[in-house]
Amino acid sequence: MQKFDTIFKNGEIITENGKEKTDLGILNGKISAIGILNDEASVIEDASNLIILPGGVDAHVHIDQPSGPDVEMADNFQTATMSAAAGGSTTILPFAMQEKGQSLRKCVEDYHKKATNNLYIDTSFHLIISDPSPQVLGQELPALARDGYTSFKVFMTYDDLVLNDAELLEVFEVAKKEKTLVMVHAEGYDAIRYLTKKLEDEGKLAPYYHGLSRPQIVEREATHRAISHAEIVDIPIVIVHVSGNEALSQIKWAKNKGIKVFSETCPQYICLTEDDMKGLNMDFEGAKYVCSPPPRDLESQKAIWEGLIDGTFDIFSSDHCPFKFKDKKGKDRPGARTSFKWVPNGIPGVETRLPILFSEGVSKKRITIERFVELTSTNPAKMYGLYPQKGSIKVGADADLTIWDPNKIAKIKQSNLHHGSDYTPYENLEIKGWPIETWLRGIKIFGNGEFIIKENMGKYISRGFSSL
Ligand code: URP
Ligand code: ZN
Ligand code: ZN
Repeated sequence: MQKFDTIFKNGEIITENGKEKTDLGILNGKISAIGILNDEASVIEDASNLIILPGGVDAHVHIDQPSGPDVEMADNFQTATMSAAAGGSTTILPFAMQEKGQSLRKCVEDYHKKATNNLYIDTSFHLIISDPSPQVLGQELPALARDGYTSFKVFMTYDDLVLNDAELLEVFEVAKKEKTLVMVHAEGYDAIRYLTKKLEDEGKLAPYYHGLSRPQIVEREATHRAISHAEIVDIPIVIVHVSGNEALSQIKWAKNKGIKVFSETCPQYICLTEDDMKGLNMDFEGAKYVCSPPPRDLESQKAIWEGLIDGTFDIFSSDHCPFKFKDKKGKDRPGARTSFKWVPNGIPGVETRLPILFSEGVSKKRITIERFVELTSTNPAKMYGLYPQKGSIKVGADADLTIWDPNKIAKIKQSNLHHGSDYTPYENLEIKGWPIETWLRGIKIFGNGEFIIKENMGKYISRGFSSL
């Protein structure tokens, strides 16, 4: 008879072979058996009427990034990882963002300092390349790739981050050599600047006009351009935070042509619309929903669902980018009430990502629970070199588990969330199906609304290459 640390009895377990009502044994932080277990264990958990899924892997999270003069993100690594854990995620991938002129190595060291001893769940960094100097492309990026920083993001817009086409191609070339995966923020910089000026000249300044300054055509054009550059260099890329049918149609076109392009969407594109940015009668409340790309219309939500259902989307991430609403260093920064251009872009969502997709997708029978697991855990782990340690319930994997009550109904409330922001864009959204416990490497860290482990047991994870 074997002795386990923990046995879950009678849970509905989702493995890569499908659903099975059975037992799961944990030993030394790893999943060590799946099947009927009549063995001893220090702890026996009754999981009847509950579902056991691999812990969520959120592959797109912004924490403590410098965001312009006098602006502060609302989360540090401690609050962001607590919030993620409470929402059923066990691994997150935030960004180490290079500032212009900064050494990439120094940037990574800075983010490690911020994260060390502040992690409630496991964490690994993507890089953001904003200054592709010869030193960065020739030495730092290749050395960091070999050290396990195997993915990075580039931007086609934003004053401080934008890369021009020549720079994108150069960066793609390095990614090819180093076998790293490039995430692309696809919105066209010049078109946004042109439209922003036009709107401002017409006196259209409220947060709502943020959406009109970056319509779907701007995203579609940049998506096509990024895909074309990737095709020329012959590398896979990920188009992140896809908001609607225009960009999605480019991705479908590329996939049909055999071009290796992955895609990601996020909760804001299935739950919010451009009308949310109107606030109460076109007032500043709309700033709560300002993110980029912006939420679109109901037709776009429909298109996003089609992509989630038919397999076009590979992953579903939060793009958690939290600012406080009532804060002069947040959404209400100086100038933000005079033009949408100054409203910090981004919304919180690391804690609500999984409940929203479970409720809107699985409970409403739009997607299967197996597809839910693929989008929120297995594929992000495979895409970013964490699999099979993460992303799947299989023998030998880390015992990162989320226990779901599929029948629990409750509304999302800011007062119940753990992030540093002072609002949620999803206030009062009714959810059916909640993650009630989160286990990290065999230890219950969160259960029934409380943190059980108060010290920070999250580890930094060095990654391998993409296996998707
Ligand atoms: O508005 C957003 N999404 N802000 C976060 C930064 C980004 O582009 O992902
Ligand atoms: Zn982005
Ligand atoms: Zn983002």
